[in-house]
Amino acid sequence: MNGFAQPSGHKHRVASSGGVIRWGKECARAGSWRTDGSVALLVPTGAPASVEFVRRCLSVLSEQGFQRVITGALSPSEQLGFLQAGFGVYEHLVLLVRDMSGPLPALPAWPRVRRAGPFRRRQLLAVDAATFSTFWRLDQAGLREALEATERRHLRVVLGEGGTVIGYAICGASGSRGFVQRLGVEPGLQRRGVGSKLLLDGLYWLRAVGATRVAVNTQVGNEPALGLYRRMGFTDDDAGLSVLSAGLGARQVARS
Ligand SMILES: CC(C)(COP(=O)(O)OP(=O)(O)OC[C@H]1O[C@@H](n2cnc3c(N)ncnc32)[C@H](O)[C@@H]1OP(=O)(O)O)[C@@H](O)C(=O)NCCC(=O)NCCS
Repeated sequence: MNGFAQPSGHKHRVASSGGVIRWGKECARAGSWRTDGSVALLVPTGAPASVEFVRRCLSVLSEQGFQRVITGALSPSEQLGFLQAGFGVYEHLVLLVRDMSGPLPALPAWPRVRRAGPFRRRQLLAVDAATFSTFWRLDQAGLREALEATERRHLRVVLGEGGTVIGYAICGASGSRGFVQRLGVEPGLQRRGVGSKLLLDGLYWLRAVGATRVAVNTQVGNEPALGLYRRMGFTDDDAGLSVLSAGLGARQVARS
């Protein structure tokens, strides 16, 4: 559902169309949060959003019937306008980066990684549901979004006994910037090298397509993932990232 809102007495009209909200030169992508239709996901594009723009986004989303709004992962400078508009921190994330000029660890032969067609993608979503909390879980649309977020993408799975997906990784690249978008291994089959193989396979692909720096983020305290990324040559970026949230009624929903 899209709509238009025209705050009175201002030179710019705020326009919402096709999942994009624009006001002057500012722009943000907006849509339903994948696992909860009452929650809007707001992702600013381009320069950090001003407090005025964020307020206008809130009124558009409120008119569209959303009860709550959550942002994408924002750096400290990108957070400012949101914090001034009344957002609070929903979750702190650790940003890790890897310089790709150095060597990569050798790629182990086991386990074998494979491409994933539609059937394996459905199985992959079951692994995702088992590894991530309800809020962060991917559905079909979220998976598509993760794959379309970058100019190039690399989705690989590992199969267990019986040929079912037990682990998957999505990496992406835009120009020389690389990203590990998603990585998950079936809980009962972790700590056997599946995550390492999937991550390394993705890093070799990222290097082959010209990524010079690879970034990944994960929740503070996610020790298995942090341990794996640091072991594979990622280092913590001081800036960190946060996902912010705000209620669209009187209620404020910041979690911490
Ligand atoms: C992170 C994850 C993908 C790792 O997969 P995995 O198959 O268990 O990884 P590996 O067996 O290759 O482990 C490699 C290294 O990661 C670290 N690691 C993995 N599990 C760990 C744990 N429970 N505690 C601490 N370190 C851990 C260790 O350094 C480990 O090496 P070691 O076993 O020689 O000590 C898996 O734990 C997972 O799916 N977690 C939930 C989803 C998630 O958080 N994904 C990442 C964020 S996008």
